[in-house]
Amino acid sequence: MILVTGSAGFIGSNFVLDWFAQSGESIISLDKLTYAGNLENLASLKNDPRHIFVHGDIGDAQLVGRLLAEHRPRAVVNFAAESHVDRSIHGPEDFIQTNIVGTFHLLEAVRTYWSGLTDTEKTAFRFLHVSTDEVYGSLAKNEPAFSETHRYEPNSPYSASKAASDHLVRAYHHTYGLPVLTTNCSNNYGPYHFPEKLIPLMIVNALAGKALPVYGDGQQIRDWLYVRDHCSAIRRVLEKGRLGEVYNVGGWNEKANLDIVHTVCALLDELRPRMDGKSYRERITFVTDRPGHDRRYAIDARKIERELGWKPVETFETGIRKTVQWYLDNQAWVSNVQSGSYRLWVEKNYAGRAR
Ligand code: NAD
Ligand code: TYD
Repeated sequence: MILVTGSAGFIGSNFVLDWFAQSGESIISLDKLTYAGNLENLASLKNDPRHIFVHGDIGDAQLVGRLLAEHRPRAVVNFAAESHVDRSIHGPEDFIQTNIVGTFHLLEAVRTYWSGLTDTEKTAFRFLHVSTDEVYGSLAKNEPAFSETHRYEPNSPYSASKAASDHLVRAYHHTYGLPVLTTNCSNNYGPYHFPEKLIPLMIVNALAGKALPVYGDGQQIRDWLYVRDHCSAIRRVLEKGRLGEVYNVGGWNEKANLDIVHTVCALLDELRPRMDGKSYRERITFVTDRPGHDRRYAIDARKIERELGWKPVETFETGIRKTVQWYLDNQAWVSNVQSGSYRLWVEKNYAGRAR
């Protein structure tokens, strides 16, 4: 079996669901169930004996140690993190606690477990750390995309905390020989994406008749990858990645935020037209920019393609259509995640932003 952390979040839950669609191997899931963790994402596995869910913190080394000793996984895939840049600006402390201190405790528990394995088990074991392209900082318009050797230049408390965790993972390989792998992926989108991030926020706001808040001039560029493609890349790296290596994962889909919002509006105009016959675009509102907003991210995904033969399956056009359709088909999920704490966040982040 494998241990997956952060399995009730956006990418973690997609990874677990996808894993069982491809493999019979069991998963032990560990998640703290923060505001971003949602057991509804894993509801279809409720009575599946291959899946064991444990509510807990990656920073609880005792708990993690016990789970490892009891279940003896052959690999750990670490998704657990605080993941939203805007929240890291309002309150960085949770990011330091989970992304840095939590990853450290997780690594310690894994190192202790790994040290006690037989030589054959030790060689086969993997610790895969899921990270982000944001650790590389921001690119100017004509600069080449981030390769794995790009300098780390994190600009937000979120990306700085992820960068620190990447360094710890690297150090555990170099110092203790822990068999680690790291992936740095671009922006994901798809089902179960929490509606604090750009794409689901725009879909959810549009359907609720609310404003569509675009930060600054909307010309910031992100490189978008459909979440299931990220999951297949992680499986490939787990299976074939060279120990201690870093693999950048991306979809070769650079888009300006405003273009993304226009695409979402066009799909909604087609799939769920407004009663008054107007376009959802009409609700786009330019609001005060994010402090320290990175201008452009772009991933050079040639290494994972060359070494491991991985390529994304979805284009942006196919992926975004599936995503919008998923939100239309899952309105109950949407209304359940918009709890009191979600509304408080929306107030905190957007109230002072109107221009
Ligand atoms: P998410 O915020 O949707 O989910 C994070 C999950 O981790 C939640 O279920 C949460 O409850 C859990 N968690 C938080 N703190 C924890 C702790 N201390 N112990 C155990 N569980 C904890 O995030 P996501 O978008 O699914 O991202 C998953 C990982 O992928 C993160 O490490 C993130 O940095 C990375 N990543 C995300 C993107 C993206 O576009 N979303 C892109 C590249 C990399
Ligand atoms: P986000 O989904 O938060 O991901 P990240 O900051 O990790 O790239 O934001 C994606 C882009 O969309 C980013 O440039 C900020 C912008 N954005 C808006 O313009 N309006 C919004 O309401 C949000 C949440 C994001």
